[in-house]
Amino acid sequence: MTRDMLLAEREHGVDKIVFTPHFYAQQENVQTFIRKRQEAYERTLELSSELGLDMDFKLGAEVYYFPGIGRADMLPLLRMGDTNYLLLEMPFAQWTEEIYLDVVDILHKQKIDIILAHIERFYQFQKDKYIWKEIMKLPIVMQINTGSLFEWRTRRFDKKLILDGYKVLLGTDCHNMTSRVPNMREGRKMLEKKLCADFLNEIDYRGERVWSNEKI
Ligand SMILES: [Fe+2]
Repeated sequence: MTRDMLLAEREHGVDKIVFTPHFYAQQENVQTFIRKRQEAYERTLELSSELGLDMDFKLGAEVYYFPGIGRADMLPLLRMGDTNYLLLEMPFAQWTEEIYLDVVDILHKQKIDIILAHIERFYQFQKDKYIWKEIMKLPIVMQINTGSLFEWRTRRFDKKLILDGYKVLLGTDCHNMTSRVPNMREGRKMLEKKLCADFLNEIDYRGERVWSNEKI
């Protein structure tokens, strides 16, 4: 499956990938996670060189929120490769003040840059929009999934986010070759069609800056 996914990504014009396996603090300690991730990465590197793929990789994690994450001293270990960016997955529930304060602590106490994973998936849980609005005011990067561009409701959300000037990144969030497939080419086409190429260029530029650990 990894071989097929790598080939598909390359075919879609992707030449840089950040691998972001899920990290759940309640289920696993960081050292075990990092060791397993490293083993999988080494096998992936072998495959990539066998296939002669000219691609660059970084190791990251999709870190699921847990109470106290803002003060967790292991958090820097989960940043993306050699960057100061962390991919944070928020709770699929109503966001609360406790959650907000944790996010602020990650930013201001730990001084880690946050990329909020698939932001489009959380809006529906925010019956009370107060914390949502406060989070949206923070200087964080908002990642959207290519898949969200294929469904009108989430596409409407994505468009508004981009047009309102948020710092948006596009990612596939691909997991496999069946239900969550590499679909960067289709996602990019859709974004270009429904908005315009300028926005895509802006997102690409932003992606390059994150990759090189520059502030955006
Ligand atoms: Fe996720």
